[in-house]
Amino acid sequence: TARTLLLLPGDGIGPEAMAEVRKIIAYMNAERGAGFETDEGLVGGSAYDAHGAAISEGDMKKALAADAVLFGAVGGPKWDAVPYEVRPEAGLLRLRKDLKLFANLRPAICYPALASASSLKPELVEGLDILIVRELTGGVYFGEPKEIIDLGNGQKRGIDTQVYDTYEIERIAGVAFELARTRQNRVCSMEKRNVMKSGVLWNQVVTETHKRSYSDVQLEHMLADAGGMQLVRAPKQFDVIVTDNLFGDMLSDVAAMLTGSLGMLPSASLGAPDAKGQRKALYEPVHGSAPDIAGKGIANPIAMIASFAMCLRYSFNMVADADNLEKAIAEVLDSGIRTGDIMAEGCRKVGTAEMGDAILAA
Ligand code: NAI
Ligand code: MG
Repeated sequence: TARTLLLLPGDGIGPEAMAEVRKIIAYMNAERGAGFETDEGLVGGSAYDAHGAAISEGDMKKALAADAVLFGAVGGPKWDAVPYEVRPEAGLLRLRKDLKLFANLRPAICYPALASASSLKPELVEGLDILIVRELTGGVYFGEPKEIIDLGNGQKRGIDTQVYDTYEIERIAGVAFELARTRQNRVCSMEKRNVMKSGVLWNQVVTETHKRSYSDVQLEHMLADAGGMQLVRAPKQFDVIVTDNLFGDMLSDVAAMLTGSLGMLPSASLGAPDAKGQRKALYEPVHGSAPDIAGKGIANPIAMIASFAMCLRYSFNMVADADNLEKAIAEVLDSGIRTGDIMAEGCRKVGTAEMGDAILAA
């Protein structure tokens, strides 16, 4: 059976990074019979220029039909003044919403060759491999009421509401436990049950889900603020961290900085399994469109390539190929080849295409 991929390169360095993934897909089809069928679409500013929308209905249909979506990056100064509803980010938000991508996976991996470039002590991060599983469609970013009300005495009140229902916690916990089974089999759940009712419920539902279906996995609970401290103090203690939308947003950004450049960080967003057990999924680098370096052929394609490795692993269960691709990235870094953003003394500086070619060769 064919494996269908929709490529949405987007704006800025998105297309430059995606070009390197296209080479890998072509190689896997030609040399390894991978059977990928790819289609292409527009998203962000480039879609706005062509259709007046951040993603066209036709491309949304393609995204819903594909096994997986590979997304580059969107945005840039050219579109800073376009109307809010059609701003470039609206394309990504629409994809997340319509594909119902409730689980955001952010790995923080420290490649040995880059450990000394970390802002922390190298021994703290060398060999680091954590996976943060962030709930993406609920919590305080979406809960109602959400408003600013005028209290009439010269005072206003800003209101956001943290809301979580049992099913939302169950399904994100399920994703975390299942992923842990493919790793070191350990989950740390983070909330603030000491001060938040939604935290009390989170803790209960994760505990019950664990007891019911995943008791083989090691489960630990940590208050989210203490978790932030532990992430910086001793990050290697963690395997999978599962947490809500707000804490996950912050903790994953903290974890990201343990590992070095934005140009290295992949991510995945997964939906619920359908009748055939297939999850909708979107894979994208953490970085944006980097207008400051776009068009120069110097962007680091590793975040995009590592996002494709996640796609192989999570959408197609091509675990050996995903491992090989990640190993190739590590090898190329070991050999001293670097794009400008991760350049270090004694290394050889290359552009986007040369980095992609080196990884493919490895
Ligand atoms: P950014 O991630 O695009 O860039 C931040 C800095 O990191 C820049 O100096 C850039 O040159 C560097 N950088 C990022 N990725 C790199 C790579 N692969 N290789 C080498 N250097 C890299 O974030 P910024 O500058 O805040 O936003 C630029 C545009 O991207 C804005 O329009 C923003 O809205 C959009 N954006 C889009 C995202 C997405 O598509 N998911 C996420 C974040 C921002
Ligand atoms: Mg963030």
